[in-house]
Amino acid sequence: MTTTVRTRVAIIGAGPAGLMLSHLLAQSGIESVVIDQRTRDEIESTIRAGILEQGTVELLDTIGPASRARTVGHRHDGIELRFEGEGHRIDFADSVGRAVWLYPQHEVLKDLIAARLAAGQDLRFGVTADGVDDGDRPRVLARDADGVPVEIEADFVVGSDGSRSVARAAVAGARNGSFREYPFAWFGILCEAPPSSEELIYSNSPDGFALVSQRSATVQRMYFQCDPDTDTAAFSEEQLWDELQKRVPGTTLRQGPIFQRDVLRFRSFVANELRRGRVALVGDAAHTVPPTGAKGMNLAIADVRLLAAALRAFLLEGDERLLDAYPDTASRRIWKAQHFSWWMTSMLHVAPDATAFDRRRQLGELRSVVESEHGRAYLAEAYCGWPLDA
Ligand code: PHB
Repeated sequence: MTTTVRTRVAIIGAGPAGLMLSHLLAQSGIESVVIDQRTRDEIESTIRAGILEQGTVELLDTIGPASRARTVGHRHDGIELRFEGEGHRIDFADSVGRAVWLYPQHEVLKDLIAARLAAGQDLRFGVTADGVDDGDRPRVLARDADGVPVEIEADFVVGSDGSRSVARAAVAGARNGSFREYPFAWFGILCEAPPSSEELIYSNSPDGFALVSQRSATVQRMYFQCDPDTDTAAFSEEQLWDELQKRVPGTTLRQGPIFQRDVLRFRSFVANELRRGRVALVGDAAHTVPPTGAKGMNLAIADVRLLAAALRAFLLEGDERLLDAYPDTASRRIWKAQHFSWWMTSMLHVAPDATAFDRRRQLGELRSVVESEHGRAYLAEAYCGWPLDA
């Protein structure tokens, strides 16, 4: 007994990309069904990234007061790059007249889910996609939480189902994509303590990279470079503070009980194909970046903005040109973000096989950036986000 649902756009994955797409489509009167295998609670409580580009915040403004990015989130007008024990501020406002917002991804998801449900969006949690059938009426083959088969038949299917995308097989096939792995990862902690610094600190030290970030007035998020196979249980709290503190010389970290630990593996990936026929990929289903440049969620939102415009032209006017252009147009920004994320990563981390030459060269690179108006502007422009329509 299969339940069949018909809609215009079937969206697999209720992450930032899928939910934002359903919102933009609804603004043009295009109905969609969004499914996600996770429960609402899982989606709203999984700790992910924290930085929103200005353009992402502006797009979130269009969901109305449901977006708390500007009220609960914090505008940051700069970051600090730290090396050789000294901090160097990259002043975004001064360099590019833009800013970013520190507002955790799970809070963005709470806002988007609340706004979509209030608007009557067909949003189904606990529904797992098993595959996508391409064709003039593509179908998502799925199962609900009780294992009952559900088929969603649509004019178009969008895979916003993350790095383990099921939709990718229908688009990129066996020819997967470009891939790079890194010989290090991040050990992330959440702790109960007020911020150690007003702005984020990206610190390069002889012992490896560390990032001092925040979540709220009482919770801090911090990371330090570690081996990808590190066991989170292998460190005592005291050892974690030692590791963090020695990588941020010059700043005294405010310590407090650590209530979450995780290891984030570093990958760069871009799928070879972003669209085939009536199926397209957005967000992590299409690409992955290491977290150093804070580009992941922002890139997903940028994809969606392009795809929403393309679907509008296709479904409302029968004009396929923007859809045909989508892979090339999206790829330009994707590869800029790939480069930026790789560049920030390689400039700030200490590779396990780094020679004395590599180390000095890296410090030379950092110095070329912070001591140059143009170097700082280059970093600031990428960090705050390139214009969305370019
Ligand atoms: C975070 O706060 O989780 C965060 C901030 C900046 C990054 C990566 C992660 O580049």
